[in-house]
Amino acid sequence: MTNYITTPIYYVNGEAHIGHAYTTFIADTMARYARLKGDDVFFLTGTDEHGQKIEESAKKNNMLPQDFANEISKTFKDLWDSLDISYDKFIRTTDVNHTKGVQKAFLTMYKNGDIYKGNYSGHYCVSCEAFFPQTQLVDGEFCPDCGRETTIVEEESYFFRLSKYEKKLLEFYESNPDFILPRSRKTEITNFIKSGLNDLSVTRTSFSWGIKLPDSLHDNKHVMYVWLDALMNYITALGYAEDDTNMKYWPANLHLVGKDILRFHAVYWPAFLMSLDLPLPKHIGAHGWWTKDGEKMSKSKGNVVAPKEVCDLYGVENFRYFMLREVPFGQDGDFSKRALIDRINSDLGNDLGNLLNRIIGMSGKYSDLHIDSKDVLKYHSSEFDKTVEILSTLPSYIDKLQLHKYLEELWKVFSIANKAIEEHTPWVKVKENKTEEALATIALVANILAKASILLYPVMPKTTSIIADTLSFSIDTNSYELLIIKKGLLAPFFIKKTPPLFPRIEDEVDIEIESTKKDTVKTELKPQSDDGLIEIGQFFQTSLKVGTVIDAVEVAKSKKLLCLKVDLAENEPRQIIAGIKEFYTPKELIGTQVCVVANLKPAKLMGLVSEGMLLAAKDESGLSLLRIESYKKEGTTIG
Ligand code: ME8
Ligand code: MG
Repeated sequence: MTNYITTPIYYVNGEAHIGHAYTTFIADTMARYARLKGDDVFFLTGTDEHGQKIEESAKKNNMLPQDFANEISKTFKDLWDSLDISYDKFIRTTDVNHTKGVQKAFLTMYKNGDIYKGNYSGHYCVSCEAFFPQTQLVDGEFCPDCGRETTIVEEESYFFRLSKYEKKLLEFYESNPDFILPRSRKTEITNFIKSGLNDLSVTRTSFSWGIKLPDSLHDNKHVMYVWLDALMNYITALGYAEDDTNMKYWPANLHLVGKDILRFHAVYWPAFLMSLDLPLPKHIGAHGWWTKDGEKMSKSKGNVVAPKEVCDLYGVENFRYFMLREVPFGQDGDFSKRALIDRINSDLGNDLGNLLNRIIGMSGKYSDLHIDSKDVLKYHSSEFDKTVEILSTLPSYIDKLQLHKYLEELWKVFSIANKAIEEHTPWVKVKENKTEEALATIALVANILAKASILLYPVMPKTTSIIADTLSFSIDTNSYELLIIKKGLLAPFFIKKTPPLFPRIEDEVDIEIESTKKDTVKTELKPQSDDGLIEIGQFFQTSLKVGTVIDAVEVAKSKKLLCLKVDLAENEPRQIIAGIKEFYTPKELIGTQVCVVANLKPAKLMGLVSEGMLLAAKDESGLSLLRIESYKKEGTTIG
């Protein structure tokens, strides 16, 4: 079965950040999963290099657009190579074959009457490379998508008869409910269409950095609209211009995109394809937005997180696991190192890594590293059956792009394995001379680990290959068939010793608290005067309030954190995650009053949002919370 998977082609106006990496990681995961199943996969990524935005960026850098595009395009390609992205082709819209393909498509649409010449007058957002009628603008001049100022465009233009496809598009969504994933995004698209589709301006005359019209139209003034140019990449990459055999991969199984460009993919692209009389892609998957400290990442704000930096510090695959596991597909997520470190220490280190260490250790002690599955079903059929049952549900999640759920379910089998060790205590069984039983438990765990590694492979290819190597098998279509589809057991083997895969990242809480403090100082406060003194006004930038603790619980898996609910006489009690577990029990806090920093930006600790901070003093003898001497009303200002 052919399976064509694509990422957006990214604009070359700046280097990639973790948002681009996210899309590419998901697409790579889907491609690897499909290959594992035995599909004939074509995985495409690349760069979008034409248009006004790139022309302007090049100019700002005093470069020719082509030179500028060459430079930035290379940074994308190098990045994907260094992150082990398994693309089959990296397309650039300045490739000759792409240009030819776009011209061929334009001419086809022109000849069948879907493109006509007219005049465009309206607004244009250069950043989104999109036209908007006056009625859709915010405050009459700002882009409804990105909020930037738009410019007025009045020029001769060729139009695509988008309006003609209104009904056909609506019918198409209706009969293909999984065309747009997650399904919840469909309404936004149908509403957009129902509000009336205007014909789309598909050429520009006021700048020149774009693909020229086909020669036979004898119209040199125009260049093509960058979105028409860009969308066509999905077929030109397969050799549409020359009717290449790679066209066998069309229609795409999945175009993966961010929600920002869903409209282009779910409305314009199918309409173009209908006009070209080509089949439509099976799925458009639109994921959510990654923010940093609650704000959209952007170069001008200086809050862009570079994927390479994070990967160098924490490991490519750990980061990849984190991104896919942390945020449900389709929803927005906030990036924090804290949450990343938690996932590494807890999910990867404690749940997965320890499991491998334990079987290496036990089989070394009790069976000279030999593992045999022969008695697994005799002693552990219920654990085995449960594992197999859970694993058989996983494809339904990945098919709907619910990778977070896929991983969540996968992790359940690690707890089955960890629990089996704790319940059956092989070391006790060995002492009781029940060695057969002890070795069966070890073999059960090895089998669970092997199966789980195969299904984790698409997300963590190198890591799981090391696990497979430790268990003397390799992850490929054959082992997938044998261990997953046929639910088989591992043949007898010798385990290889492997160093721990996920060394613990220490003292995470302190790292985070320190870095938040630094950030706050840097971004929020004016620099101190020379004498180190501040103005009274600077002090009052901090809002301090009296609060009553109405609930307190321990944060699971954390040595230091308690999760408090604090009443500040607001609509809802605040959730505050405080590093005081070593000094206070939840019980002794409930009902007492505390001093709260009430205007801190929310932060995430161990995956929990913290909406404030408690004042406390700490020395060698311990930590003590600041208290109000006698009861004061909740929300009372301190200062
Ligand atoms: O739109 N969070 O290119 P682009 C999550 N050239 N994903 C993000 C993100 C964020 N903060 N920022 C970017 C274009 N992305 C066009 C596409 S396709 C025929 C043409 C990801 O460089 C996400 O996938 O602006 C988004 O859709 C894409 O990058 C936009 O990349
Ligand atoms: Mg963009």
